[in-house]
Amino acid sequence: MLGRHFHPFFTLTLLTIFSISFTTAWRPWPNHNSTKSELQFGGSKKYEGSSDFVKLRYHMGPVLTANITVHIIWYGKWEKSQKKIIREFISSISEPGPNRNPTRPSVSKWWRTVQLYTDQTGANISRTVHLGPEKNDRLYSHDYCQNVCGFHYFTFPSIVGYTLPYAWVGNSGKFCPGMCAYPFAVPEYIPGLKAVKSPNDDVGVDGMISVIGHEIAEMATNPLVNAWYAGSDPVFPVEVADLCEGIYGTGGGGSYTGQMINDKDGATYNMHGLRRKFLVQWIWNPLLNYCTGPNALDL
Ligand SMILES: *[C@@H]1O[C@H](CO)[C@@H](O)[C@H](O)[C@H]1NC(C)=O
Ligand SMILES: *[C@@H]1O[C@H](CO)[C@@H](O)[C@H](O)[C@H]1NC(C)=O
Ligand SMILES: *[C@@H]1O[C@H](CO)[C@@H](O)[C@H](O)[C@H]1NC(C)=O
Repeated sequence: MLGRHFHPFFTLTLLTIFSISFTTAWRPWPNHNSTKSELQFGGSKKYEGSSDFVKLRYHMGPVLTANITVHIIWYGKWEKSQKKIIREFISSISEPGPNRNPTRPSVSKWWRTVQLYTDQTGANISRTVHLGPEKNDRLYSHDYCQNVCGFHYFTFPSIVGYTLPYAWVGNSGKFCPGMCAYPFAVPEYIPGLKAVKSPNDDVGVDGMISVIGHEIAEMATNPLVNAWYAGSDPVFPVEVADLCEGIYGTGGGGSYTGQMINDKDGATYNMHGLRRKFLVQWIWNPLLNYCTGPNALDL
């Protein structure tokens, strides 16, 4: 039996590169074609991914209940300003101290949905996510668009000596923005759909933020791919963020993003970090059985 003290890891590795070559992962936009009227009228009904057919189950494996440390490995060339946006997102996940109230809706409130998941001892996912030391690998580059924006897995003790959950997230801003930076860029096949302005003036990195949030939420709830997922095939698990891909606000679902927030300068976001704004997809709520986020209008 796996108790809390048996967890062999408390560290996550977030590898950040231009593009990657896995075929089994997700896209932040719905994987089907849609008509403009669907986009316009989809918001009138309560959807947010709710479905009687979703059977998210706990498969008895460990989840990340101890303080989480994210080690970023930067592959390829990154601007200082780009690194700052990503670090500030990760630093915004933990609830700030009692004398620092985050502006609502906040990234830390977004993480509360992830904290609802528990292991078999009843321990919740950690409320604390820290940044650890980073590494740079500037020479690595892999400049083409693949059909995946991010994925997570873990290292095998038999190969590297320990078990370490990790995620890859690609910056596809340059190469396939319509796929991985939606809705700051839109897929060409959806006629009449307009991209929205990104909150930190960087379409690629602002698009990556939601992918990073997706992967961190799934690493915390399913680090060894034997804890929380839906579907019967562990090779293609449908995880807590997969269930809500493309949903950023109330009414979201199908091909509609849901109600987002418009900034004075025209940018679109749905939550506040400690110093800047972000657009991050919602997470499946195991108590309510639909996707929830901090900017829900009916909370
Ligand atoms: C969406 O439409 C495009 C162009 O009409 C087509 O090439 C593509 O296969 C369609 N995708 C799906 C998932 O139906
Ligand atoms: C976990 O993080 C919290 C908040 O930063 C801190 O107070 C606590 O000491 C940490 N626990 C461990 C075991 O590092
Ligand atoms: C821990 O998880 C349980 C079950 O989902 C939930 O009722 C409780 O509110 C969670 N606690 C925190 C601190 O999130």
